[in-house]
Amino acid sequence: LAQIDVDISQIAAGQSITAKWRGRPVFIRQRTPAEMEEAKAVPLSALKDPLARNSNLASDAPATDENRSVPGKEEWLVMIGVCTHLGCIPLGQAGDYDGWYCPCHGSHYDTAGRIRVGPAPENMHIPAYEFTNDTTIRVG
Ligand code: FES
Repeated sequence: LAQIDVDISQIAAGQSITAKWRGRPVFIRQRTPAEMEEAKAVPLSALKDPLARNSNLASDAPATDENRSVPGKEEWLVMIGVCTHLGCIPLGQAGDYDGWYCPCHGSHYDTAGRIRVGPAPENMHIPAYEFTNDTTIRVG
């Protein structure tokens, strides 16, 4: 499907689901305040990939925590659940940065889905999406 509507009403803070969009997994996570603080505290200079990789923003937008979401909904992280190295599916709430860990070759992503350590060259990509109401995300 070109677009999917995902009901997020049952996803509490600290929980995630995986939707499927255009044959690929899409991770949707409601982050906890602690996870957001952890991501905000990271200076851009510490990031391996300085770009937000967010289809909802300009292609040169920096990879701040805010730019990894959409305005007003920063607790929601919506991203293509594919490792930017060679395409494995990372494991959630794993790795050295409390985000995602790709076991194929050891890439560690942080709580904003940004690559921090390992062979993956880019932050996990964020697809075009919008909130059609408070409990529905339209991806695509
Ligand atoms: Fe994820 Fe290689 S595919 S680290």
